[in-house]
Amino acid sequence: MTKPLVYVCRHIPECGLELLRRSADVRIHDGQLPPTRDELLAGVGGTDAILSLLSDRIDLEVLEAAGPNLKVISNFAVGYNNIDLRAASERGVRVGNTPDVLTDATADLAITLLFAVARKVREASAAVLDGSWRTWEPTGWQGLELAGKTLGIIGMGRIGSQVAQRLHHGWQMPVIYTARNDKSELAASSKAQRVDLEELLSRSDVISVHVPLTGGTRHLLGARELAQMRSHAILINTARGEVIDQDALIAALENRQIFGAGLDVCTPESLPTDSALLKLDNCLVLPHIGSATYPARNAMATRAAENVLAGIAGQPLPYEVFAS
Ligand code: DGY
Repeated sequence: MTKPLVYVCRHIPECGLELLRRSADVRIHDGQLPPTRDELLAGVGGTDAILSLLSDRIDLEVLEAAGPNLKVISNFAVGYNNIDLRAASERGVRVGNTPDVLTDATADLAITLLFAVARKVREASAAVLDGSWRTWEPTGWQGLELAGKTLGIIGMGRIGSQVAQRLHHGWQMPVIYTARNDKSELAASSKAQRVDLEELLSRSDVISVHVPLTGGTRHLLGARELAQMRSHAILINTARGEVIDQDALIAALENRQIFGAGLDVCTPESLPTDSALLKLDNCLVLPHIGSATYPARNAMATRAAENVLAGIAGQPLPYEVFAS
């Protein structure tokens, strides 16, 4: 009997591939970069499942290129803004993601960025590397302290609530948040209060962004919103770059309208090395490494493979997402 065929858009941790190989033939796109559009369209042909990454746009054209056997798209990420859910559901193709297992890793990275920006780690480290560090500096590289400062969480979901808990209990930060729906259960452990966006922007000393990218959240923070932030505030984004209007953020940072920004995500990814964002000493940019720990990535690989196997067996996925 022929085995089902799975197209995997890049090498993922071996534990996930091994799980797939037990029940399916696996066609992997080789190489460090995502498949080009042509490679993707050719690679998915005749498959039963696609294991995609957030860098692969999976839309109607890809679904059509895959053909009638396609049953499931399993994204190796919690976010799934790269997938046209409606087109998939209209063709009866299930879509899955990898929630929970990367929550701690991503929350930890948001806090890493926060302290790095608050304490000017980027500039201080650059001075060590470029030789401009001459002696102990009584007035150099002074930054901010965070204990007791107000934390604003935009998007009190799994990751947002973990960032809130860590900073509330570790640094006694009062927490306010915005969310589309009631999140009182997730907010309870940090005693967070729900407010509207305007209030969050004007009251927070630190703002951390945790909303998924949707039509409603694209450029949620633009020039108008950035202008409402406090002059010493720090903005952290570990969600998706497009949630912030990047040009408006560059202007706000250049004008010292806010203290600084820490970004694990940006637009585009990767960021050209001549981007104005990289010239700013009050901005730290990382290459989207929120979930990049060994345990998180291994668990994501297993979870993504489990979704594939359930989908090709015609069963609901353990971690399935639906068009709203
Ligand atoms: C996700 O899972 O959506 C992150 O952005 C990458 O791990």
